[in-house]
Formats: sequence, structure tokens, C-alpha cells
Amino acid sequence: MYFLAIETSCDETAAAVVTERGEILSNVVASQIADHAVFGGVVPEIASRRHVELIGPVVTEALAEAGIKRHGLGGIAVTQGPGLVGALLVGISFAKALAWGLNIPLCGINHLEGHLCAATIGHEVRYPHIGMVVSGGHTSLYRIDSPEEIVQIGQTLDDAAGEAFDKVAKLLGLGYPGGVVIERISKGVDHHEIELPRPMMNDEGYDFSFSGLKTAVLNRVIREEVFPDMDLRFSGLPGGKTPAPGKEDLVLKIAAAFQEAVVDVLVAKAIKAVKDHQRDLLVVAGGVASNTALRTRLQARAEEEGIDLVIPERKYCTDNAAMIGMASIRHFRQGRYAPLDMNALSRWYSITKNQD
Ligand code: KG4
Ligand code: ZN
Repeated sequence: MYFLAIETSCDETAAAVVTERGEILSNVVASQIADHAVFGGVVPEIASRRHVELIGPVVTEALAEAGIKRHGLGGIAVTQGPGLVGALLVGISFAKALAWGLNIPLCGINHLEGHLCAATIGHEVRYPHIGMVVSGGHTSLYRIDSPEEIVQIGQTLDDAAGEAFDKVAKLLGLGYPGGVVIERISKGVDHHEIELPRPMMNDEGYDFSFSGLKTAVLNRVIREEVFPDMDLRFSGLPGGKTPAPGKEDLVLKIAAAFQEAVVDVLVAKAIKAVKDHQRDLLVVAGGVASNTALRTRLQARAEEEGIDLVIPERKYCTDNAAMIGMASIRHFRQGRYAPLDMNALSRWYSITKNQD
């Protein structure tokens, strides 16, 4: 049985074909980065319009790459939420039309369940374990007792880690998407003279906070007069353009120190959750999980603590449809189909409870 999966929750238009046994036959991702980079972040209206243009060709390519004809499909899975409603609706409408036309079942998949399921691609994932999703929209910890029992135990109280990467990159005039740029320029930079806070790192619970860290970066940039052209008169996050002569290195050091602070907090909280819950497996997924500094440090800490660690391959960390396809297999098997009047969910509070 072949399933087509579609993902349009944010700024990637993606389609994949997976088999019911979990083989990935194709995984096509059309990134809209260039369309949004000029604005320093995702513009929802532009994302929706680009999804409309890209969804047809992306699905056609995914089917061609898999060597499957539409009539050979046994079901269609689509990201139902959480995400940008306009963006989600493009994928959902396309999936509904195709499912109806082919008379095959439709499944609405939670984007976060998809991220967590990316860990099952090429890895044996046993239960119970602790899962962490670190993306542009979420930074959450989960107690995962089985594929059906995913209980959130902590979340960010303000910015998500990826969002903080993007905002700090904007602030430092480094471009978009922030995580990728900050990772690249931080390599080998000695940042020890830059002290930044580790918000909530040593708290009892499993919640996160990254907006104070972003503000600490902003304060440092202002204090050191890094960007003479930075306009602070208006509300909203200012963005630097060209550093003052001689301040270029300082920008690199601040970026590297910021990355280190985020990694410190994520690693500490994830390991604490595993130990507190007496688990021996940690799964870390989402766009930020493609960060090399985070991956390396998690690996080292997990080894020290005798904890097994599964992080998806980089291409399955950032948004893609293969992860939605993997998550859908269980839904199709259990007959958890979505009605054709299924709606997009911008927020979805409990991964394993359907909110429709
Ligand atoms: O999972 P994802 O592709 O989309 C959401 O569901 O949000 O995550 C996107 C986020 C962006 O904020 C981006 O800056 C961040 O993941 N990201 C990274 C890296 N690659 C992407 N953050 C840190 N290091 C990276 N290499
Ligand atoms: Zn995502």
C-alpha cells in the first residue's frame, strides 16, 4: 500500500510517498526561503500564495520520483495543524480533492507528531521514551509512553528556540533563516568573553523561555554600539545592517555565544526530563535539531549519562512530508480517517487527541 503525504504548515511545500511498511519512496521539499528572506521571516500571505503555485508540481514530482501513479495510492495524509491557517488550508484542500477524486481515505496529521515520527526513519524507536521538538514554532518536551500516548510535560513560555535563532539573526543583520546562518558563522569562534543568560535552565520543571536571551543580545548590541544604522525608535524587533568598523568580530562572538546558550538550555532540560522520568531513550526532532552544535553536545551528554539518543537525519529534522507520511501509517492502519469537511487547526493542544 502506498500513501501520499502533504505538508504545507509553514514555508515549505512538501510531498512524499511512503509505503505501509515505512519505506520512503520520495521526499520532495520546495523551500520558500528566498521569498521570505527579504522580510527577515515568514510572511503568512506570501507563504499561502506560494503553496498554491507549488503544491501541484511538488506532488507530481513526488509521485514521479516514487514511480507511482495516482491511481496506485491507497490513502492521502496531510498536515492538519498546528501551523499557519492559510498555508495549511492549501495542503488540506489539495489533499481533500485528491482523496475525493480517487475515492481513497484521508488522514489529518499533527505536525508535531510528524516531527517526532521522523525519528523512526532508519532508527528503531522503543517505548517509553522522552521526546523533544525544537522548531521555529515549538520547543516542547513530551513523555511518550507509546505512539498513542504523547503527553506534553514542558513547553516554551514565549519564543520557540528556532524563532529565537531567527530573531537574533535578524538583530545581528545575518539574514534568514537564522539557525542555519548562526550555525555556519559560529564555527570555531571563541565567544567566552560574551556572557549571556541561560533562562530557566535550572528550574524544577520542563518549561523554556528564550525571549529574555534575545533581549540580552539586543542590550549587548545597543551597549556596544555595534550597528550605527540600527533604528530603535519604533516598536518591534530592530535589525542591524552593517556593523561599525572593527565590530565585525563582535557580531560573530555574540552569535556563537547565543547558540551556546540555547544549546546549554536544551541539553540540560532534555537530559533532566529523561533522568527524572527514569527513561533510557531521548528523541530530539524539529528544525533546530539539525544544528551541529546541539547534535554534538546531546550525543556527548547522552553517552555520559548512559542514555540512548535518536536524532533524525538533518533532512528529516526541518519540515518535510516524509515525517507526515511516517506518522500517518498508524492512523491508516487504525482507520483513523478524516472527514472531507476537516478543517485546519492553527493550534492543537494535545498531539494524540483529535480536536475536530
Ligand atoms: O521544523 P522547522 O523546519 O519548521 C517549524 O516547524 O517551525 O524549523 C524551522 C526552524 C527555524 O526557526 C530555523 O531557524 C531553525 O529551525 N533551524 C535551525 C537550523 N536549521 C533550521 N536552527 C539552528 N540550527 C540549524 N542548523
Ligand atoms: Zn516543523
